[in-house]
Amino acid sequence: MQVAIVTGGSRGIGRAIAEELARSGFQVVVNYATRGDAAEEVVAGIKNDGGAAIAVGGDIGNRDDRSKIVDATLEKLGRIDVLVNNAGITSQGRHDLLEATEDSWDRVFDTNLKGPFFLSQRVVQEMVKQIAAGTISGGKLINISSISAYAVSTNRADYCMTKAALEMMTKLFAVRLAEEKIGVFEICPGIIESDMTAPVREKYDQRIQDGLYPIRRWGKTQDVALAVRAIVEDAFPFSTGERINVDGGFHIRTL
Ligand SMILES: NC(=O)c1ccc[n+]([C@@H]2O[C@H](COP(=O)([O-])OP(=O)(O)OC[C@H]3O[C@@H](n4cnc5c(N)ncnc54)[C@H](OP(=O)(O)O)[C@@H]3O)[C@@H](O)[C@H]2O)c1
Repeated sequence: MQVAIVTGGSRGIGRAIAEELARSGFQVVVNYATRGDAAEEVVAGIKNDGGAAIAVGGDIGNRDDRSKIVDATLEKLGRIDVLVNNAGITSQGRHDLLEATEDSWDRVFDTNLKGPFFLSQRVVQEMVKQIAAGTISGGKLINISSISAYAVSTNRADYCMTKAALEMMTKLFAVRLAEEKIGVFEICPGIIESDMTAPVREKYDQRIQDGLYPIRRWGKTQDVALAVRAIVEDAFPFSTGERINVDGGFHIRTL
């Protein structure tokens, strides 16, 4: 049975991805930072539906924790076929650019960029070994970025910059890993209902109704999960480094 690690699988978009991958036949590692209760609930739901999953705690911004996530996966499930770099946090305090803090910068960059980069590096090293040994036939890396990779929010500078960097990270790994039979993708969600967007719910209700983007509804976590499923089920066999927009058409410029 193929194995997928989903960082931040305990809530929101990551939870929907973990559940969808389990339905697709993967054993899923549901990673979380602090909410072990939420992760265990996801695991119980997956098992209840006949799937397989384990919860593994660990802060992806922390080197030792990243090792722990990979070691626990290999020890308990023996292989890694897919890594979904989903865990992410928004700017701490959402301060204006001129008041932005180094504390927020460090936390956001550690979680949204350094964590995914070095976790990918470690996971890919394992994948390459396993492909050489014939344990797995190929792999997939999927990075969850954001429309904030190119749309400016002056009160979330660090968040925007980490998401912009994920686009380049996707391309770097895509080029390096094509010969290794590992496909690399970026999914770029728009405005999705989750705990992260709960504080700005009313603001976006109005803007979406006013036509902020063509498909006038909130994105659902399942919208993102279905895109992940398409990638892992090899719907794009001659593509890599690709950005897939899941945003109701937000990325289209109009006149
Ligand atoms: N919601 C949106 O509109 C939207 C749009 C575009 C992109 N995104 C991106 O999609 C991803 C998921 O967002 P979401 O809306 O689902 O967020 P969310 O509801 O706030 O959930 C965040 C998840 O990430 C985990 N997490 C946070 N920091 C972590 C760390 N250091 N190590 C490991 N796990 C960590 C959390 O674990 P705990 O449960 O333990 O706290 C939780 O499972 C993020 O990368 C976000 O930037 C979201």
